Amino acid sequence: MKLKHNQKLIIGNWKLNPLTLKEAVRLASKIDPQPLHETVICPPTLFLSSVKYPRLGAQDCFWLNKGAYTGQTSPLALKKLGVKYCLVGHSENRTAGESEEMIQKKVSALLSVKITPVLCVGFGTTVEEDDLEVTDIIKSQLTSALAGIDASKIVVAYEPVWAISSGDPYHHKMATPDHAEKIAMFIKTKFGVKKVLYGGSANSTNALEFLEQPDIDGLLPGGASLLPKDFNQIINMSC
Ligand code: 13P
Repeated sequence: MKLKHNQKLIIGNWKLNPLTLKEAVRLASKIDPQPLHETVICPPTLFLSSVKYPRLGAQDCFWLNKGAYTGQTSPLALKKLGVKYCLVGHSENRTAGESEEMIQKKVSALLSVKITPVLCVGFGTTVEEDDLEVTDIIKSQLTSALAGIDASKIVVAYEPVWAISSGDPYHHKMATPDHAEKIAMFIKTKFGVKKVLYGGSANSTNALEFLEQPDIDGLLPGGASLLPKDFNQIINMSC
């Protein structure tokens, strides 16, 4: 049996990949179902009911469960599919117009059906800013999203927007494990959040340096979660 010490949370965000159900089922079948860390995969919503993995997450949802809302995804329907986590406020959705108010409503709706929201923050920061400026932006995003919410029940993912899909978080001096650790500590102490993940070009080469930080409770890899060899290394990495 694998040891459970220092268990982290690793959530693979497949984004809009792959293109077919067959490929999605195949990809999921290659991910170790009994890894060292708590592992969640988030396939596109369309494939959620067919992909088999012990812990499934959704990439987004609506804030109401039922009714005349064309094209939306019901949090309650996700719950009935066995979904355990749902991303909210991803920078790719904030870019497409998702507002702070919408994010707050989604977080609240998810908690009411007992799905853990994974609130993504870090949109709008730039690489030129220092830690203080970054914390100001994050503080404002968390203050809006957590209005009336018990922060101890959610997971926050710090995803510096410039590090996403860059292929190398160290390319910019700010996106280092040290910087992410400072931001994670700030989020926990200021807001009472219990779990903070790092996301932004996390891969099997750099994962350990992030996972070794005491206040970083896991990772939210995008690209690397589509590569079974890389992802299996991350989810079985002792730290
Ligand atoms: P990448 O790991 O591909 O940079 O994506 C990170 C991300 O946006 C996860 O939500």
